[in-house]
Amino acid sequence: MNETSIIGIAGLGAMGIGIAQVFAQAGFFVIATDLHAPARDAATARIYNQLQLPIDKGRLDESGRDRILARITIAPELSALANAALVIEAIAESVSAKSALLRELEGIISPQTVLATNTSSLSIATLARSLAHPDRLVGLHFFNPAPVMKLVELVSHASASAAALNTAERLAQSAGKTVIRCADTPGFVVNRCARPFYSEALAMLEEGRAPAEIDAAMRAGGYRLGPFALIDLIGADIHLAATEGLTAAMGFHPRYHVFDALKAQVLSGALGRKAGRGFVIGVAPAEPSADADAILLRIEAMLVNEAATLVAEGMVSVDDVDSAMKLGLNFPRGPFESASRHGSARILAELERLAQNAPAQLAGRYAIMDRLADLIR
Ligand SMILES: NC(=O)c1ccc[n+]([C@@H]2O[C@H](COP(=O)([O-])OP(=O)(O)OC[C@H]3O[C@@H](n4cnc5c(N)ncnc54)[C@H](O)[C@@H]3O)[C@@H](O)[C@H]2O)c1
Repeated sequence: MNETSIIGIAGLGAMGIGIAQVFAQAGFFVIATDLHAPARDAATARIYNQLQLPIDKGRLDESGRDRILARITIAPELSALANAALVIEAIAESVSAKSALLRELEGIISPQTVLATNTSSLSIATLARSLAHPDRLVGLHFFNPAPVMKLVELVSHASASAAALNTAERLAQSAGKTVIRCADTPGFVVNRCARPFYSEALAMLEEGRAPAEIDAAMRAGGYRLGPFALIDLIGADIHLAATEGLTAAMGFHPRYHVFDALKAQVLSGALGRKAGRGFVIGVAPAEPSADADAILLRIEAMLVNEAATLVAEGMVSVDDVDSAMKLGLNFPRGPFESASRHGSARILAELERLAQNAPAQLAGRYAIMDRLADLIR
């Protein structure tokens, strides 16, 4: 298993295109396909354009770009993926579509080929159930944009084989990614841990703060993008669907509450970048308010409380969750590192204050996780 291994990719949307680039840039041969001819036809030009970034940064020259593109074959049929060591599916986020594709792939690939899904929110075990050999399927969750974000979450499930997990891990590492292993639970590590980054900002919006003010406070605290700029980038509708999925999967616990402000935003059509207007797109940027530190403390207190639930559930270590949030979302610090800067006493006092002031429907949202104080160094 080395760079001469072939990586197969099914689905040439934003993620498939990015993942193709990642592996080809690392020296692998990539064979990629898409059900839709326009996606196939546009793929090479899209990767060519994406490679402008490393060229602009002086990390790649034109001949390097040509060599990378020469390692990528865009094929019209799924059967072209037959000889891949690893096939990654990056098609629409639908159990039925993914299950059908994985089943079809199983009839094409060799017994040694590992299958991976790039799903953000579906259960890997559910997808594996559609296969004759569920042991060969793993979750390999890349972040957007895949060529930039260093993290990959490797998601296991009860019937995944150690060999499939190890192969997927080795190949992702050989492509330059930092891999963290996680269990097959809703949102895996990063998307679950990041929930309060958005939702606590939405709580403050409902209390009367302006999105631009909240974003300015988070930027002043070192975050490249504030929560509302990130929602605008993702699309408020996509963000709402992801939040609703996670909430349902977590039994409607108030930590994953879906705030009305988000639903109203979707109804208004101000979905973010794709609509040309959003929470902060089309709005004048704000300066950090006098109490910007209080906004930062509130969001970071909730982030570390969620991170502590993941650690308590045995999902991830303190160090891994810190590095995952930095590498997967470009956060300036991990949640535990942020909490150490504030000190555990301030974090606990903030969560207690929030619990006291919480409206009835959010009771329990701010409950302090058992081992939180011990986990903050
Ligand atoms: N966009 C993100 O930020 C992001 C981040 C991480 C993971 N993901 C996950 O990655 C996957 C893909 O997301 P995306 O944003 O690239 O989607 P997308 O909608 O941009 O692209 C999906 C592509 O799959 C193709 N497709 C659909 N059915 C197919 C089939 N049966 N066979 C082959 N191709 C098929 C479509 O034509 C389309 O080109 C989803 O599971 C998503 O949840 C997305």
